[in-house]
Amino acid sequence: MPTLFDPIALGALNAANRTFMAPLTRARATRDHVPTPIMADYYAQRATAGLIIGEATGISRQAVGWPYAPGLWSSEQVKAWMPVTQAVHDKGGLIFAQLWHMGRMAHSAVTGRQPVSASATAMPGDAHTYEGKKPFEIARPLAAEEIPGLISDYVSAASNAMAAGFDGVQIHAANGQLLDQFLRDGTNARTDEYGGSIDNRVRLLGRVTQAVADEVGADRTAVRLSPNGESYGVDDSNPAPLFTAAAEMLDAIGIAFLELREPGPDGTFGATDVPRLSPQIRRHFKGALVLNSDYDVARAKADLDSGLADAISFGRPFLANPDLVWRLRHGAPLNKDEMATYYSQGAEGYTDYETLMGSKALA
Ligand SMILES: Cc1cc2nc3c(=O)[nH]c(=O)nc-3n(C[C@H](O)[C@H](O)[C@H](O)COP(=O)(O)O)c2cc1C
Repeated sequence: MPTLFDPIALGALNAANRTFMAPLTRARATRDHVPTPIMADYYAQRATAGLIIGEATGISRQAVGWPYAPGLWSSEQVKAWMPVTQAVHDKGGLIFAQLWHMGRMAHSAVTGRQPVSASATAMPGDAHTYEGKKPFEIARPLAAEEIPGLISDYVSAASNAMAAGFDGVQIHAANGQLLDQFLRDGTNARTDEYGGSIDNRVRLLGRVTQAVADEVGADRTAVRLSPNGESYGVDDSNPAPLFTAAAEMLDAIGIAFLELREPGPDGTFGATDVPRLSPQIRRHFKGALVLNSDYDVARAKADLDSGLADAISFGRPFLANPDLVWRLRHGAPLNKDEMATYYSQGAEGYTDYETLMGSKALA
């Protein structure tokens, strides 16, 4: 069976190994959501990943409520992403853009607009804003007539991503973001063609994915789902049939890969007793399946050996270890990630994690 260090064909691309970098919001863009030069250094340091799935990146101003997160709706943003993708390519790496709409999680203090969602719900808790934490607001349900405009925002962002030099795009439909708010019945009470039955609730994800695939190629389009357990207040009463239907639909579109974030009961980024759905999803999705959450080498080997996963994406281990692939291959110790600098601006806790690769002591 292939190991973490073996190559894999992913749609139009050939990745050098199966150790992928999971998407990680790091809040190093400007207040106007424009990427900054330090982001090129950060991603280039991590270019030995088989594939970098870039941080969540707003498809429109309405979509991004995270302070200092980047976007892909303006020519200024496209231009500022170019040195980032170039820096990764110069090091022989591959990078996808993760296309992001936060829906009800996007606070008006950041976007200047009331948040939108499938239905009039509010996320529990407080949003990060430039003025500190503020309670999440009740979202305005998107009118059916607004859906074509939303889909075209995804398509423009995908087209901008390709113009900026990304190798493909991942549609963020996980972690309680807008598309997840449409998928799951806890946040979708619609009575139109986007709510109610499973077929209706997967419709928006299907339309967005098909439209993006038509724009950039299905073989450069990926999707992320978080099928098991509640995420940011978004949950479903019967996730297995919902997410197997979604997987079947994505399989029919022929996407390059599907990534699943599936925490277990001891998960450290979300924990749940709801069993992983990847074994069922595997039967419905024939393309490359990438699994994520709390992986180490032993768990990764088990899921690659059993054929459940084709590749594994690592989030926090990559955040803290630019040379993660080398370290895993050599059994080298891992740096621990520092939460205090996850979303702080500047180099500290961003580009200053130690690299061992090539060091004399361990070479
Ligand atoms: C600081 C931080 C930022 C994250 N940002 C994103 C994001 O932008 N998009 C996304 O889909 N998931 C995001 N996640 C979730 C990670 O991609 C991943 O699912 C999670 O960290 C579990 O994987 P790990 O155990 O390998 O870290 C983030 C997680 C962390 C810790």
